[in-house]
Order: sequence, then C-alpha cells, then structure tokens
Amino acid sequence: MRHLIAGNWKMNGLATSLSEAQAVAEGAKAAEGKADVMICPPATLIERMRRATQNSPLLVGGQDCHPKASGAHTGDVSPEMIKDAGGSAVIVGHSERRTDHGEADDLVRAKAEAARRAGLTTIICIGETEAERDAGETLNVVSRQLAGSVPDGDPSDIVIAYEPVWAIGTGRTASEGDIQEAHAHIRAGLTARFSAAGSGVRILYGGSMKPENAAAILAVADVNGGLVGGASLKAADFLAIVEAASGG
Ligand code: 13P
Repeated sequence: MRHLIAGNWKMNGLATSLSEAQAVAEGAKAAEGKADVMICPPATLIERMRRATQNSPLLVGGQDCHPKASGAHTGDVSPEMIKDAGGSAVIVGHSERRTDHGEADDLVRAKAEAARRAGLTTIICIGETEAERDAGETLNVVSRQLAGSVPDGDPSDIVIAYEPVWAIGTGRTASEGDIQEAHAHIRAGLTARFSAAGSGVRILYGGSMKPENAAAILAVADVNGGLVGGASLKAADFLAIVEAASGG
C-alpha cells in the first residue's frame, strides 16, 4: 500500500507560510504514484492553500470538525465547510483535542461519521499517554480508542494515526519494536472488525517523525505513512520525509 505522509500544521501558519506549501506541492509532483502527500493547515488557510497549490497532487485537509453540518456552534467548523473550502480530508481525535477540549471516543466517532457524510477522508488519531504505557496499558488503550472512535461501515475512507502522546512534540520517538507491536495490534483489530477491508486501512505513525528517523519508521511492517507535526512546517524537512516514503 502506498504511504501517506500528512503534515499537521496545528495552530501554525499565516499567509506567509503558503510558500512552504507551494514547495511541498512541487515535491509532491516528484512523489506522485509513489507516496501521497497532504498538509492539514489551520482552517483559515485551507482555501488559500488549495488555490496556491492547484494543479499539484498535494492534498489539503482540516484538523478537526464539528459533527453537525451547520448551526449555532460558535467557533466550530463543519466537514461540509472543509469540503467547500477545497479540503479532501480531516483529522479527528488528535490527542491535543482529546486533552485540551476533553474530547472522548464517542464524540470522535460522531466527527468521523460527519466527515464521511461530507465525503472527506478521515484521519482518526489514537495513542496512549506515558502513564498508560508505564502501566502496561498501551494495547488496551489502543483497542478501546479504536473500538470507540472508528465508525461502523465500509472503512475505505478511514486512516488511523497511531500517535503515542509522550512522543508528540517531545523529540522522543517510539522504538521500532514498540511501533510494530502497536501497528500489528491495530491491524488485527481492524481486520477482526472489518474483515478484508480492514487490511486496506492505512495506519500512520505520528510522534516526532523527522528526516533522520523517517526511513526506519516507514520500513516497519504495518506502517503505511506518517502524521508529522513540527517537521511538516519546513518544506525541506517535510519533503525529506516524503522522499523516504517514496522509496528513497
Ligand atoms: P510532532 O511531529 O511535532 O511530534 O507532532 C506529531 C503530531 O501530533 C501530528 O499530529
């Protein structure tokens, strides 16, 4: 399965950052057919990024969505709005949303169902905290989040991102053995629930992925790409990861 390298810009990016996206879009042309490349900028930049990178294979996505299509929900953005702005995907259930906004699995699942309604690909994030890992609970947490956050029905529009919370923005990455264990567990959960369709769901790794460690992580079985935070903000770093995902 072709790798997907998705950049999560988080709450970073102004109009001046669009030149980085344009450089990534150029690199995405070189990777076409070998790896898929996406940037999820803040909602304010989705439409401008789409326009600035049109005629390139770069995919643009949102970072969160409300379950409803419209209504009295001040400050929220619906998946239909992301689609309308030119986005083709959305991240839901990121650990920063789970922590900062108290989002639980049932809400994440409702958001994923809403994204499906709008015709978006959904990147559903799961992953254990450091305390949960230390308590030996990693695989249980991952199973629980997977069961609770992923909607029923054909999973062909779903991508899972395994992001151990303690590896996000810390410069610490999970070991290749730990990544393999978690991804194999997620794959088994997906095939148990969705049969053959579960083997076609991409499972991304996220957490301090950078040019120096990307090739090794992307070579781990059942790692089908990466969800990249800090290293996605600079085109040169991000493209080095894309190149690693393209087979060199
Ligand atoms: P970092 O790559 O900055 O650790 O962030 C990972 C992440 O949270 C991507 O969603």
